[in-house]
This record gives sequence, structure tokens and C-alpha cells, in this order.
Amino acid sequence: MPDYKIAPSILAADFARLGEEVDNVLAAGADIVHFDVMDNHYVPNLTIGPMVCAALRKHGVTAEIDVHLMVSPVDGMINDFIKAGATYVTFHPEATHHIDRSLQIIKDAGCKAGLVFNPATPLHHMAHVMDKLDMVLLMSVNPGFGGQSFIPHTLEKLKEARKMIDESGYDIRLEVDGGVKVDNIRACAEAGADTFVAGSAIFGQPDYKAVIDEMRAELAL
Ligand code: DX5
Ligand code: ZN
Repeated sequence: MPDYKIAPSILAADFARLGEEVDNVLAAGADIVHFDVMDNHYVPNLTIGPMVCAALRKHGVTAEIDVHLMVSPVDGMINDFIKAGATYVTFHPEATHHIDRSLQIIKDAGCKAGLVFNPATPLHHMAHVMDKLDMVLLMSVNPGFGGQSFIPHTLEKLKEARKMIDESGYDIRLEVDGGVKVDNIRACAEAGADTFVAGSAIFGQPDYKAVIDEMRAELAL
């Protein structure tokens, strides 16, 4: 079985109690903290920045933090997030003029790097930078908001991305983000995903462990 990882999106957490929410979801069995950064420019919503990431580290969070940048421009934000304790920094190819340079800034700082593909963004943007990627993230909703419905076409795209990753020979995680729930996580895994972002499906339930256990049971089938 692949090394599946569940990455709750804190976008759906109670921001007034964020440290406690992250502690609780990690204690419930989550692997990675998915950290959605929105700038009201690249996407029509505004969330959290490096100070909040640093505050989670200060609070004692040692798990991997997967910073999903939905900002434009990208480059000026990278080092601030790395200093704040990001494990991964991922960005959308449309949000930067120079994809290779943005990836290199992340790699030069010793951080893991990833590209994020919107539902209609073709995968060819990754073709010439596979050596710089630690993560490929496919959006299964249009970015900007939690709680949207999974776009079914993502399953075909996941298969295509899985093939590109396998053929590259590089060790790159394939993450899916948006509308992921207990009832579709297995289809995502069968299509090739190994890392699953879920916001409302986890934080929308009172018992985080019960949901994460159900997700793992689906993945183990
Ligand atoms: C959307 C974000 C997602 C979002 C997922 O732009 O990138 O990470 O929080 O939320 P759910 O799981 O509720 O679709
Ligand atoms: Zn996200």
C-alpha cells in the first residue's frame, strides 16, 4: 500500500482556537497540516499569512506544514513562509511569471516545493521542472473556498499526473485538494493520489478521529 497521508485543511478549523484545533486533529491521526494562504487577488478570499504559521510552530506543532499559496506574485512570500516553519511550499503556475525560478527559490532555502493545478490548468507546466518537485497538487475544486463539491474530472487528471510522476522516476507526492470526503477518498487513491487534503469533511464533524479512521479504512480496502 502506498504511504498515504491525510492533510486536514485548517481553512475549515475554528480560527479562534487554531492551536488547539491543530493539536486535536493531529492527535486524531492526521499526518500533515494543510495551510491555505489566500490574498484576495489571485483568489477572491483572504486568509492567513506567515505569522500564523510561525505561531503554530511556537505553539509546539512539529508535524509537516503544507503551505498552499494562492497568492500572486509568489516569490516575495516564499522566504517568509520558510522562516515561519513551512515544510512544503506549493504555488500555482499561473501565479508566477517564472515557474522554474520560484521553485528554485524554495529549493535553495532547503524547503520542499510543489506545483498546484487548478481544474482547468493543464499538467504540462510540470514537464520541465520535475527534478525540482516534491509535491504535485491537483485542485478538485476551483481555489478560494472550502466546502465545495469535488469535480469528478479530477480522477482522470490524477491518473495522468500519476503516470507523469512515475515515468519521471522522481519521488514526488501526488496530493488532491477540494471536496475530498470519506465517500470519494478511495477513488482518488485508485486514480493515483497519495496525499489527501480534507477541510470541511474533517473539521465539520465533531469527532475528528472517527472521520480520519473512516478515511484510513477506505484507503486500506
Ligand atoms: C480551497 C483550498 C482547500 C480547501 C478544502 O481553495 O485550497 O484546501 O480548504 O476544503 P474542503 O475539503 O472543504 O473542500
Ligand atoms: Zn488548499
